[in-house]
Amino acid sequence: MTALYLERFMNYGITAAELRSGRPIIGIAQTGSDLSPCNRIHVDLARRTREGIRDAGGIPMEFPTHPIFENCRRPTAALDRNLAYLGLVEILYGYPIDAVVLTTGCDKTTPSGIMAASTVDIPAIVLSGGPMLDGWHEGELVGSGTVIWRSRRKLAKGEIDEEEFLRRATDSAPSAGHCNTMGTASTMNAVAEVLGLSLPGCAAIPAPYRERGQIAYETGRRIVDMAYEDLRPSKILTRAAFLNAIRAITVIGGSSNAQPHLMAMARHAGVELHPSDWTEHGYDLPLLADVQPAGRFLGERFHRAGGVPAILCELAEGGVLDTECLTVTGKTIGENIVGREARDREVIRAFDTPLKEKAGFLALTGNLFDFAIMKTSVISDEFRQRYLSHPGKEGIFEARAIVFDGSDDYHHRINDPALNIDENCVLVIRGAGPIGWPGSAEVVNMQPPDALIQRGIAWLPTLGDGRQSGTSDSPSILNASPESAVGGGLAWLHTGDVIRIDLNAGTCNALVDDAEIARRKGEPAPPMPESHTPWEELYREKTGQLEDGAVLEMAIKYRGISAKTPRH
Ligand code: FES
Ligand code: MG
Repeated sequence: MTALYLERFMNYGITAAELRSGRPIIGIAQTGSDLSPCNRIHVDLARRTREGIRDAGGIPMEFPTHPIFENCRRPTAALDRNLAYLGLVEILYGYPIDAVVLTTGCDKTTPSGIMAASTVDIPAIVLSGGPMLDGWHEGELVGSGTVIWRSRRKLAKGEIDEEEFLRRATDSAPSAGHCNTMGTASTMNAVAEVLGLSLPGCAAIPAPYRERGQIAYETGRRIVDMAYEDLRPSKILTRAAFLNAIRAITVIGGSSNAQPHLMAMARHAGVELHPSDWTEHGYDLPLLADVQPAGRFLGERFHRAGGVPAILCELAEGGVLDTECLTVTGKTIGENIVGREARDREVIRAFDTPLKEKAGFLALTGNLFDFAIMKTSVISDEFRQRYLSHPGKEGIFEARAIVFDGSDDYHHRINDPALNIDENCVLVIRGAGPIGWPGSAEVVNMQPPDALIQRGIAWLPTLGDGRQSGTSDSPSILNASPESAVGGGLAWLHTGDVIRIDLNAGTCNALVDDAEIARRKGEPAPPMPESHTPWEELYREKTGQLEDGAVLEMAIKYRGISAKTPRH
């Protein structure tokens, strides 16, 4: 253990005896702040975590991380994941910290913390802040994010006005906490628990619940023991653990953003994960959690139904959980979930009586990209009927591309009658990837033109090199890699080209012949905005594609650096 040697820490309640005690110093990586409202509960929870750390014999040291908030960070919060990662690595490596509590909540706070913990490789435990309470509006459940996408369609149809739109939005966020839907936040906290990095049940406890404070205390206690046991991320994060995560993400109807984040965490942990693992290990699994956006309920019901441990029980029951994976409890995941079966079968279905069969993510490939992903659990019956049920051609459709260069272009032109958009179109957006945006934006879930929505067409197929919000219920083809900005196929696509999507074969191709593609590659590249900050420039220089996790590629080689003593 590192000895505390700086007398000025005594100003913060550390005694002279403790300075020489050899007791472990436990960092609390504080992600909550006024700029990170989804994680702000941690500012209060840290008191409980500190009590747990002290009661177990550790010395708590709380410090801030770079703020991350999805909703008002421009041009996109995706820039912050790698920046918070970088900052946290420097803190955990450069300061005398023996083990760390990673406070998580809003989408990217979870992967950034876990990525940094792997790079440094000191004992680390994840403490979720928990989701908000369920949102209610006029007797109807309204979930964060999802309510926005659904209400926008109602607004376009003329069913509600802007005032009502705002009331629905505010009602969806009734308390402290992160998104109460199974968006990226709840998905990534569930992933942390499935990977074995949280105490069992931690992910889903709503932020204001009594149990949330209790688990903050227990997390504080446990990390002290982990420091003595030297239970580091490298002992927990195995390929088997990551495959368990893919399975769990599938059956909870988790966020499409889990794909780049899981890949990023795996690569920083030195674990081999392949884009095809999503199809191979997840696609055939059913949807079990009836939680928005793929289902009906929200975080409180999910927690009361048993949360992540109950989901893991179902995976074990279905014979698809590797129960031997080690976790922060010092026990295996199989041992952790004994007696934690679902308590509400309306919300968490049994493995053999699911909400949907084959509800996983499908990895697609073709002449427009090497890799893209589709979340099939949100394909509505209406969409399936219109596009995927042509007799003899089930799962196959062809559509005329309408191509937009970024979201401004989409907003300016989507209602332009000259585009002649009908139900046989696929909306395509490019310039939305890590380099093009920069950072990769949640813009692919484009809404059809108002006129189409008024005719009852709520979804068109969409495709893009950006991402979409995990709270979205759009059946989009996302994260196309390589992106147009680095010469990916979307760069040569023209409006009017026909795209053929075959979900059975996992392919997506523009029906354009090779000679014509070669000719178009000589045309000027689509427009790309310049960098506005030093970090944007650095990010563009060092960050890879969504297929590979959009990590700082040069950072991957740094792993287990805590073993390397700082110079001074
Ligand atoms: Fe922060 Fe959803 S916007 S959790
Ligand atoms: Mg998001």
